[in-house]
Parts: sequence; structure tokens; C-alpha cells
Amino acid sequence: MSRAELEIPTGVIDPLLSWSRTELRHLPWRETRDPWKVLVSEIMLQQTQVARVLDRWPRFLERFPTATDCANGAASDVIELWAGLGYNRRAVNLWRAAVQIRDEHQGQLPTTVEGLRALPGIGPYTARAVAAFAYEQDVGVVDTNVGRLLARWTGETLAPKPAQALADALVPSGQGWRWNQTLFDFAVAVCTKKQPACAACPLRTACAWAGVGDDPAAGSAGVSTGQSPFEGSDRQVRGRITDALRQGPMELADVERFARPDDTPASLRQIVTGLIDDGLAELQDSTLRLPS
Ligand code: ADE
Repeated sequence: MSRAELEIPTGVIDPLLSWSRTELRHLPWRETRDPWKVLVSEIMLQQTQVARVLDRWPRFLERFPTATDCANGAASDVIELWAGLGYNRRAVNLWRAAVQIRDEHQGQLPTTVEGLRALPGIGPYTARAVAAFAYEQDVGVVDTNVGRLLARWTGETLAPKPAQALADALVPSGQGWRWNQTLFDFAVAVCTKKQPACAACPLRTACAWAGVGDDPAAGSAGVSTGQSPFEGSDRQVRGRITDALRQGPMELADVERFARPDDTPASLRQIVTGLIDDGLAELQDSTLRLPS
């Protein structure tokens, strides 16, 4: 689709690039173009706050500086290093992606969005983030923040395809890296989820929503609907069992100590089966442990 067909609000490009000249955050993963390092940062940044990733990203890369180093380690090493980051399935997927990169790509990450998407655990967001932030390709990266911006500018709750087409068409030629990082930071600093700073926004005259009426970002493509409560959830029990396995193997029967008041043997079994199916645990005889 061309810019004309999409009615791209091109008037937003220059004000945003000017804003970024003084406001872009200095984050360590922005100092590298190494695709493995960028991939690790992007996987960590999904559902984990920047502040926490700041000290975990270098620690992970010290241990696994390349995809091949990671693939040569055990899945359990990666799961152990992931402690405190949450959503442990990401660790297993990252290790599986590393194995595929070593075995099928001579240790080098694919250089196209399609090639990246073929790796385990890499969806459209992560593939595009690596394309833009490692290879500096002119693709639009739509995370929850960018999804919110796009909906507000256009004043429309967007379906995934038009949102992606719009994001792609907006990228100023040759500036895919800078443009996408700018959108992230602008959305985090100005076009925030709650109480956006519309009065001080450099885009207010170009913005269809401008803070008036229902927020078109609700339900728009890429915009997260918020995480369900963690306290008392299956996710919390899974996390506790995984934390215990990081300390060492345990007897299956001991899983009972993580039971919530309403858990039954069947509900606990289901949680353990889920961990095994996701590659986060292995059962040998009656012993549960991290995968080898
Ligand atoms: N979240 C996801 N990717 C990011 C990046 N490159 N910088 C800051 N926050 C991010």
C-alpha cells in the first residue's frame, strides 16, 4: 500500500524526529547492532520492565555472548539465568531458537522478517524488532505502545493488518532504527496509556483523538489488554515450582507444598503437565527437574 492510499499522517514525522534528537533514551541494547544481542533484549523486554532488563541483559550475554554459545548450553542453564524475569517459557523458546540458529543457519541469525519468524518463539513483533534494531531495516514495529499511538493519531481502533501497513508506510526511508525507537519512547513519555500529555504534545494538531472522547486505542491492534491478576494464578504456581526446580530436582509429591487452598491433585497435575509440555520441566520416575 502506498502512503497516499493509506492517508498517512506524514505531518507527524518531522515533529517526532525533532523530539527524538533530545529525548531518545540511552539504553544499552541501543548501542549494539548484534542481532543475537538485540534478540535477547527484545525477548526480555516483552512483559518485563526496562529497569529490570537493564541488569539482566548484560548478565545473560556475559554467559551466552552468541547464539551458538547459548545453543551449546543446556536449556536448564537458560532457565536458571532467567530467574526473576518471569514468563519462563520465553527462556525455553530462546534456547530453542539458538539451537536452530546454530544447526540451520551456521550460527547467524536470519536477516529477513520471514526468516526470523520461522524461529521458535519469534512472532511478528520480535521478528520486526530485530529487523529494525539490528539490521536497521525500514519496517514498522508495533508493540503495545506503538499500537496505542497509531490508534490515537488516526482516531481509529485498528485491525492488525491496517495497523501494520500504516506502521510500515510511516517509516521515513533509511531511518527504520531511529524511527521505531522514537515511537517507543514518545509513547512511553508523552502518549502514555493513562493521562497522556496531550496539552504539551507536539503532535496535538495532527492527532485525530487529541484526548477527546473514547480512547480509540482500547482494543486496537498490538495494544495489550493488561495482564490478568498474578496473585493466586496458575502462572504464580508455575513460577514457584520453576523457582524451586532452579534450586534442584524435587519429588513429584512435593509439588503439593505449592498448592493453593482450592487446588486438587488433578489441578496440580495439570500445572505440572503444562510445565513439562512447555519444556520447563522433565519427569523421570517420580523426580521432577529442569530439562537437561
Ligand atoms: N521495548 C521493546 N523494545 C525496546 C527498545 N528497543 N527500547 C526500549 N523499550 C523497548
